[in-house]
Amino acid sequence: MIPKEVIEEVVARTDIVQLISGYVTLKRAGSNMVGLCPFHSERTPSFTVFTGSNSFYCFGCGAGGDAINFVRRTENLDYPDAVEFLAKRVGITVIDTDVHETRSRFDRKRMLEMNREAARFFHEELLKDNPEAATAREYLLGKRALSRATVNHFGLGYAPNSFDALTPHLRALGYTEDELVAGALSGRAKTGKLYDYFRGRVMFPIIDVSGNVIAFGGRVLDDSKPKYLNSSDTPVFKKTRNLFALNFARSECAERLILCEGYMDVIALHAAGFPQAVATLGTAITPDQARIMSRYSKRVVISYDMDEAGRKAADKAMRLLEEVGVEVTLLKISGAKDPDEFIRNSGADAFRRVLDASQSKFDYTLDRVLSKYDLIDPQEKIKALGELREAIAGFPSSSEREVYIGVVADKFSIPKKSLREDIDRSINRHRREYKKKENDTLRQSITGYQDRVNPEFSRTPGIARTEETVLGLLLCDPTYRAALHRDPPVLTEDDFLTAFSRRVFCAVRDKIGDDDWEISALNEDFTPEEIGRIYGMRNRRMQLTDNGDKVFSDCVAALREAVADQKIKSSDDPMAALQQILKNKRKEDKGEV
Ligand code: CTP
Ligand code: MN
Repeated sequence: MIPKEVIEEVVARTDIVQLISGYVTLKRAGSNMVGLCPFHSERTPSFTVFTGSNSFYCFGCGAGGDAINFVRRTENLDYPDAVEFLAKRVGITVIDTDVHETRSRFDRKRMLEMNREAARFFHEELLKDNPEAATAREYLLGKRALSRATVNHFGLGYAPNSFDALTPHLRALGYTEDELVAGALSGRAKTGKLYDYFRGRVMFPIIDVSGNVIAFGGRVLDDSKPKYLNSSDTPVFKKTRNLFALNFARSECAERLILCEGYMDVIALHAAGFPQAVATLGTAITPDQARIMSRYSKRVVISYDMDEAGRKAADKAMRLLEEVGVEVTLLKISGAKDPDEFIRNSGADAFRRVLDASQSKFDYTLDRVLSKYDLIDPQEKIKALGELREAIAGFPSSSEREVYIGVVADKFSIPKKSLREDIDRSINRHRREYKKKENDTLRQSITGYQDRVNPEFSRTPGIARTEETVLGLLLCDPTYRAALHRDPPVLTEDDFLTAFSRRVFCAVRDKIGDDDWEISALNEDFTPEEIGRIYGMRNRRMQLTDNGDKVFSDCVAALREAVADQKIKSSDDPMAALQQILKNKRKEDKGEV
């Protein structure tokens, strides 16, 4: 367990507004700050930072907590690592050795060192004086036309075509079999023996923004399949939350980032003088990656392959990036299938021209639609118009829409007025759909439908809500917490019906003393989602400041009664059952049911 004093110190010294500002653009709203939630996609801010209580809560998705929980979620760290992350930021050294025992089974620092050793090994293999290495070098320097400087800059390497090259090397350096397998560098055969995962491939190390080697991609030298192998997720790597070459691009992207599909595209671009290029890691772009990119640059040029798959992928990237407020343009290259090939054929200057001429979303869509449909055919023309109408309806600015309406009306020789009316109808329909979706989510969060944190909530929503009110009061005010330690205590775990509330109750009673900041101690026993829920209980209660004592005693009474009811229901005693029926009848008469 991490000593309380360390958590206290770290939380107290962390300025949560400053911390969160590194991830979210915050605006003042009364005494609090609001911004677009980094944990779900939204257009109007429901993410709130409470400066008074050093906490955050999103009214849209229910994420919430303190600085530690924020870091756990944004940096994807477990609890002890999140404390350490914050400690480092405010200049506290966490020397407590227990910290290392409570973390995941694998030591992050060791795993990262192991990856660095592997990268060094692959790089040295590439430079060796043997026929296999020579073939690999010929592939990179000859066929792919990379310079030695580029090979060194990216730390490219070669994994020999052998089942036991890297594995014995890392074992000799003291890394355990479990570490090798968890790090996705070795596989384990049915016999239990380890073997090298990457064989006969040129190797691309994947490096995070702190300079750690976190994973690898490996490409075959010929046309065999699979063309690329990538590290699976490991304790130090999540492929949906990292981008290839962001370590280099991060300091070069003030003006814009260039998003590519492949490792080779990025490498060719950097070599040609475009160090703002990044790529996803063998998967389509994810919302997390879009959010990460938006932190580094407000403009992104999508430079995907020119085939249909690339276009589909570009549509998705465009949508995700726009959702996080990034201005997106699209690169149109001709005579080559991807940026790497284009640069090899036409050179860097040609690429720069193409880059400066990158298309706005509207031009890109217009191009696509015009090439897809034959406008001579009336049916096709109607389809084309339909797609353009939807596209224009998606632009939030009405003057921008007006410009595009002009372009399309001209192109299709139709009156602007009718096009405008169609578009307004689409906009209204989208608004209605959006509202409905928003209401549905809200309803779900109120009724506890699909409640993963407390699956029992929907069974007894009334009581579960009462439980949350009581817990909210306990979290807000030490006087109620003190009442739990009276003899007899005002409330015990037996007064809670749902298991989640019971767990929260016990933790609050046993871990939080007189100071409200001690709520941080709960981080240890709850997942980030659960912590969000707990902060939600507290925040809802904090907004209603009056009448706490009466609410508290009413709720306690209601919980007691509910538990008693439950006991009667589950007992076989006919007298008790009768009592229950009579009681329900009385309630009905009073109009309570
Ligand atoms: N990719 C992958 N697995 C595959 C094929 C592709 O993970 N079997 C990923 C790689 O990250 C690759 C990217 O998708 O870089 C783009 O694929 P592709 O366009 O086929 O590869 P290129 O990077 O263009 O590779 P090359 O030019 O070497 O053929
Ligand atoms: Mn390519």
